[in-house]
Amino acid sequence: MYKHKLRLMLLLLCLRGSATSFADSQNDYNQTCAACHNLGVAGAPSIGDRDAWSNRVTKDKEVLYRNAIKGFSGNHGVMPPKGGFTNLSDDQVKAIVDYMIGVAK
Ligand code: HEC
Repeated sequence: MYKHKLRLMLLLLCLRGSATSFADSQNDYNQTCAACHNLGVAGAPSIGDRDAWSNRVTKDKEVLYRNAIKGFSGNHGVMPPKGGFTNLSDDQVKAIVDYMIGVAK
């Protein structure tokens, strides 16, 4: 049973393949944005919370990218530029935002 699951996971990982995969973004997310976005610290929309994301995903994606990269203050709190992890490239941040939006759908 357990072995079976493991094999399925490996297969899925192989299928994903490409350079900045879903798994990479998930990993980046966990190491950076999760500090606030997992539990909704300081007014951050929690990952996977459809209500918290519903009015955000209707925005232009470029706006979400820009707000995540440059930071912004909204009605709920302050989103620091790149969540304070300025070592992330803009493309990495965009990929994480895509990941977050994907989970919220
Ligand atoms: C220090 C806490 C903190 C960290 C770390 C953090 N965020 Fe946020 N984030 C916030 C808060 C607070 C908001 C909501 C601001 C508001 O709407 O008032 C937010 C909002 C957002 C939004 C919605 C933007 C919009 O226009 O509605 C995105 C996208 C986002 N964050 C992405 C990220 C990404 C990607 C990372 C990691 C690189 C990250 N955040 C790390 C606090 C954080």
